[in-house]
Amino acid sequence: MPTLFVTATSTDVGKTYVTCALIRTLRAQGRAVDAFKPALSGYTRYEGSDAALLLDALGQPASGVDRMSPLRFAAALAPPSAARAEGKSVDQGVLNRLCRIRMGEIGEGLLLIEGIGGVMSPIADGATSIDLICDLEVPAILVAGSYLGSVTHTLTAIESLKARYVPISAVIVSESAGDNPDLEEMTLAMAEFVRGIPVFVAPRAPDWDASALATHLVGA
Ligand SMILES: Nc1ncnc2c1ncn2[C@@H]1O[C@H](COP(=O)(O)OP(=O)(O)O)[C@@H](O)[C@H]1O
Ligand SMILES: [Mg+2]
Repeated sequence: MPTLFVTATSTDVGKTYVTCALIRTLRAQGRAVDAFKPALSGYTRYEGSDAALLLDALGQPASGVDRMSPLRFAAALAPPSAARAEGKSVDQGVLNRLCRIRMGEIGEGLLLIEGIGGVMSPIADGATSIDLICDLEVPAILVAGSYLGSVTHTLTAIESLKARYVPISAVIVSESAGDNPDLEEMTLAMAEFVRGIPVFVAPRAPDWDASALATHLVGA
């Protein structure tokens, strides 16, 4: 399984957190792993950006930012809107080609492509994340929150992916910040409806051990 697309029910749910945890776990196991975040919005400084967090998890220097995230925009908006604010545009074909170049380089390792926003967030002019996932013909992992309302958001995202025949390798419930339903109860409720797809839980902790997810995705 050389490439996985990391998508989510929405933005700020935990895609980068889960991707970085997976990278760290795989690296600790001595496995080859790389990451790609093709477009980055709200990029005003390197520190704290998704590119910085992913490069840090990979043990790579800041000079890798162009390779990690070639399309960077200052406005904290979906890429097509953020690009428009700079008089630019984001072409779906260009995004597809950028991803495919990285997919061609990964060899036997695992490439994690972090999406932008949620399953149906605009990603390029006239295209949402799901269109890119379909173009790339890769399986997805879906990151969801544990907030009240997450079950409906998660099931809606799953139905959208299934309608486009995107295989979903795992659902990861990343514990939401703040006052939320009990994590165990939320995961139970999620697993009851998310049939046929393994559900993993990422509790709110600085360093989540993603070995169970890693083993499921790439084998023991
Ligand atoms: N399970 C978790 N444990 C601890 N912090 C988390 C967890 N999930 C998300 N976060 C934090 O919540 C914020 C948003 O998560 P992030 O991974 O950046 O979301 P996304 O990439 O989907 O936009 C970040 O500060 C991140 O570190
Ligand atoms: Mg992110």
